[in-house]
Amino acid sequence: MITIDVRSAAGDYPVLIGSGVLDDISELSARIVGRPPRSVVTDAVVARLHAHRVAAALDVDPIVLAGGESNKRWSAVETSCRRWLADGLDRSSIVLALGGGIVTDTVGFAAATYLRGIAWIAAPTTLLGMVDAAVGGKTGVNLPEGKNLVGAFWPPALVVADTDTLATLPPRELRAGLAEVVKAAWISDHSLLDLVPVGADIGYDSLTKSGWVEMVARSIRIKSEIVADDEREAGLRKSLNLGHTLGHALEAATDYRRFLHGEAVAWGLEAAALLGRRHGVLSAHGEQELRSAAQRLGPRPAIDDLDPERVCRFIATDKKRDAQGVAWVLPTDDGVVLDQRVETSEAIEVMRELQRG
Ligand SMILES: NC(=O)c1ccc[n+]([C@@H]2O[C@H](COP(=O)([O-])OP(=O)(O)OC[C@H]3O[C@@H](n4cnc5c(N)ncnc54)[C@H](O)[C@@H]3O)[C@@H](O)[C@H]2O)c1
Ligand SMILES: [Zn+2]
Repeated sequence: MITIDVRSAAGDYPVLIGSGVLDDISELSARIVGRPPRSVVTDAVVARLHAHRVAAALDVDPIVLAGGESNKRWSAVETSCRRWLADGLDRSSIVLALGGGIVTDTVGFAAATYLRGIAWIAAPTTLLGMVDAAVGGKTGVNLPEGKNLVGAFWPPALVVADTDTLATLPPRELRAGLAEVVKAAWISDHSLLDLVPVGADIGYDSLTKSGWVEMVARSIRIKSEIVADDEREAGLRKSLNLGHTLGHALEAATDYRRFLHGEAVAWGLEAAALLGRRHGVLSAHGEQELRSAAQRLGPRPAIDDLDPERVCRFIATDKKRDAQGVAWVLPTDDGVVLDQRVETSEAIEVMRELQRG
């Protein structure tokens, strides 16, 4: 088991990464947070596959939320809070969020607001949840108008990432999560790229158990260092948006139906590599290296049929826009540069270049 301590203004918290660590949740929680969780909240898929492991040890009947981005909404927060009330949870109670980023974002936000805030534990069960969503303290839900429009900074008291849970994750979800690993590696640990499995049929078996632990831990370390230095995204935390400007636009332009988030980010990493080269901040070699790291994650939904002008209009409405244009994070040979102004016309050209292959 690897432990990473995350610094936070709201209180530091440990992230435990290991094979099988969920089996010890009751004891770990008692030792680190002082008491075991009184409630487990999960989604239907994870309830079927993994919840029994914690529910039996904790002697609780899990709250099962409907899964999917469209259910990351107020009503799920209300469902959780009302059950907690019915079960007599008070201000000193701790709740456990077991699932992917949808569950941890929703339950973290419910915990932030229940009785004006109770402690929570994140037990991410997707790769994206482990390396991204569960660490950093951002919680929230969507509105019909857009993603993550209501939320709170409410860091967990503990994160328990059991990499064994990845064994049941659909390979497509696994590959999408790897795009965030590639992103993190590019930001500050290029040697991590060597641990990322490659090929058209990447799956859980592509790495050993300890390989998963090491790769997840090193990715979490990168994110934790960045968020510790800039919890509220005044500067450095923006570097985590590498690949996300075009990525978000692709997701929005296809109504969040065509791409998994990480797949859109993989396209976005390629776009950022092309732009980095054009802006003279990334060498030809660096461009090739980042693009091939994204491509080696295997096939992803195509962008050929999308109108670049339409897609790039979604960039212009992104919250990263200001008077001088849209601020991109661009890759350099050994990291990233923030706040690079990119004209819409340039983004369109780059997307056309990606479509040409
Ligand atoms: N708070 C943050 O800083 C942050 C950062 C990144 C992403 N996010 C959020 O995370 C969400 C996406 O998270 P996600 O990609 O984990 O999606 P998700 O939670 O929907 O999980 C993806 C799918 O995998 C299933 N699943 C989860 N664990 C499984 C397992 N071990 N085996 C089999 N199936 C499993 C889920 O039921 C779901 O169908 C988005 O809403 C995004 O906004 C938040
Ligand atoms: Zn992301």
